[in-house]
Amino acid sequence: MFIRIAARFLFLACIAADIIPTHAAVQFDEARKVFRLDSPGVTYAFGINERGELQPLYWGAALSADDPIGPAKSDPGVTSQDPSTSTTPQEFAGWGQGLYTEPALKITFPDGNRDLVLHYVSHKIDGQTLTVLLKDIERSLFVILRYQMDADTGIIGRSALIENRGTVRIVVNSASAATWTLPPGSDYSVRYLAGRWGGEFLPYQQRIQPSETVLESRRGATGQQNNPWFAIARGDFADEESGGVWFGALAWSGSWRISIELDQIRQVRVTGGYNPFDFAYALAPGEHLETPVFYAGYSANGAGEASRLLHRFELAHILPQAPQPRPRPVLYNSWYATEFNVDEAGQIQLAEAAAKIGVERFVMDDGWFGQRVNDFAGLGDWYVNPKKFPNGLKPLIDKVHALHMDFGLWVEPEMVNPDSDLYRKHPDWVLNFPGRPRTEARQQLVLNLARPDVRQYVFHFLDTLLKENDISFLKWDYNRSWSEPGWPAIANAAQDGEQQKVYVKFTENLYSILAELRAKHPGIEIESCSSGGGRADLGIMHFTDQIWTSDDTDPFDRLRIQDGFTQAYSPGMMVAWVTGSPNWENHRTTSLEYRFLSAMQGALGVGDNLNNWTAEEFATATRLISEYKLVREAVQHGSLYRLLSPRDGSAFTATESVSLDKNQAVVFAFLHSSEMGYPFPILYVKGLDPEANYALTPIAGKPAEGTPQTASGRYWMQHGLEPELHGDFQAAAFRLDKTR
Ligand code: DGJ
Repeated sequence: MFIRIAARFLFLACIAADIIPTHAAVQFDEARKVFRLDSPGVTYAFGINERGELQPLYWGAALSADDPIGPAKSDPGVTSQDPSTSTTPQEFAGWGQGLYTEPALKITFPDGNRDLVLHYVSHKIDGQTLTVLLKDIERSLFVILRYQMDADTGIIGRSALIENRGTVRIVVNSASAATWTLPPGSDYSVRYLAGRWGGEFLPYQQRIQPSETVLESRRGATGQQNNPWFAIARGDFADEESGGVWFGALAWSGSWRISIELDQIRQVRVTGGYNPFDFAYALAPGEHLETPVFYAGYSANGAGEASRLLHRFELAHILPQAPQPRPRPVLYNSWYATEFNVDEAGQIQLAEAAAKIGVERFVMDDGWFGQRVNDFAGLGDWYVNPKKFPNGLKPLIDKVHALHMDFGLWVEPEMVNPDSDLYRKHPDWVLNFPGRPRTEARQQLVLNLARPDVRQYVFHFLDTLLKENDISFLKWDYNRSWSEPGWPAIANAAQDGEQQKVYVKFTENLYSILAELRAKHPGIEIESCSSGGGRADLGIMHFTDQIWTSDDTDPFDRLRIQDGFTQAYSPGMMVAWVTGSPNWENHRTTSLEYRFLSAMQGALGVGDNLNNWTAEEFATATRLISEYKLVREAVQHGSLYRLLSPRDGSAFTATESVSLDKNQAVVFAFLHSSEMGYPFPILYVKGLDPEANYALTPIAGKPAEGTPQTASGRYWMQHGLEPELHGDFQAAAFRLDKTR
């Protein structure tokens, strides 16, 4: 009997293997002129229509290999007001003929022609990568579209290379990486992340109406106002773990835009790339512009699965240490303890205290360089301040190493204070328009990193710093947005599309500095910080190992910020510190345990002044840091389930992280305020092996009376786990470990 069942099972598995590819497959159906990208979970298809345009055909759950898709046929159009050229969706539409939706590309030719119509020329399939060559119907303007699908997650990366093969200089007025077209329908909602300093990554959602929703940054960098990520659900995200969700993230850390349109034929199109606002990029004959990559995917199991797919993809393909990033060490950061008042003795004292509680990396923040005693001076002068560190950084670094921690240092390389030697010597190095005021923010100006000499200066000081000191980690800060983004020195400044190259070259140089530093100093790890989480995107994450999530370190506020951050980005790069209570900003008082449990859901750090701690606080921190080390693999690299979201003022929050091998789950539960004596909701944990047994160990707090110590995965998922939580700002955490 068993053999017969096993044989039948094997047979079914073989059939399944036949239809469901175990790797991403790219195919072109010559007869129908249809391209297909398939992963086990997702199918994406587009075709060449009778006009020669690339027309999207399908994006969603995987179809069978021989399911008929296409051929592509243009939409007939609605009326003379909405002709076929606008209602027919395209993979990458030039602005030309009659197009009233967002174009992916807009060009001005020197003779005044601004009409661009892109048609298919040829394609190439190279393993899992598809490239399609398009050309304007008359001019030598070519576009190479690139598609690459990840077999594991079904996430596709798309970008475009725009090439001027003509004989005259042209100007690119706007360039997107891709347009994503959803299945026809008008019952969609979009979720996006918005915020400000000290309140980043807050999720908002709204119905997609016939209009355009624009998510963007005009700030020169990613920004806190919007984050370049979106998720679109059929319906309204009613259930975290079910329903179709299409999602995407743009890998760009300069000004960006993602527009979401519901067009005249109820078709949702998402177009994203460089922000067209104030954008222009001249291309001389033979020159090209390559857009950033716009990644997108599909989840059949709600926003929860969409996040997990993105997290897995980031860990496997985006982060610099992909596919197996090292676990984030527990760090200590000096900022909230000493601010700018850093010196050798004070930092050594903090390092000694940090080592006692189990910290693995000691980071000295702002204040160690130039004439930096506050934020009015010193940025740009990257020499060690001789008064604060008369013997250089070596004594401190040696001490940190002797305490078995590695050493990290704060820098803000793209900025300068007008009160600095650097600015006095090179006032022309900042972004500016000659004769116009230079707007300061935090008493600083932005260096024009697009300039080769500035790039050289920044790289050289960082390289020297790393060569001369045993530094394992840089916290790379960036504390203001651009203003007056002029680049007066550039040749042909008067010509449209030359100065504005700053929007591209600045960020390209930032990436190249980071890449070169990593290549020359292979052990270095880097954190992206921008007054908190102002530079978090898949572009910077290719070069940095972690993100400083927010300057708002209040553990309750952080629950919402972290809920938003993890919609898009892995908890493995979400840095969260335990700071003092009452909180430095909102004055809320919380217990040390509550603060730890909130921060333990990401990459744990401590940022309080340890000199003020009691013996009891040291004991609590030591215990919880050692507990964290037992679960950090699951937290940082496992599957995250948002069991109860703090969105919309919920009094309850709970997350669960399950290790990829399902051997461990860790559950965190937070109660804002008990009301009417109701108990904390039962937590129906997810993702366990139903047949295995799991033992429950409280990390903090306790389960409700009668909770078994060991039960099956099925029990914990179906019967649930009830934490015993009452009062205000209370928290509990539990480990579930598979028993043998
Ligand atoms: C802003 C960062 O977010 C803080 O953590 C700190 O590093 C300060 N800058 C230092 O100036």
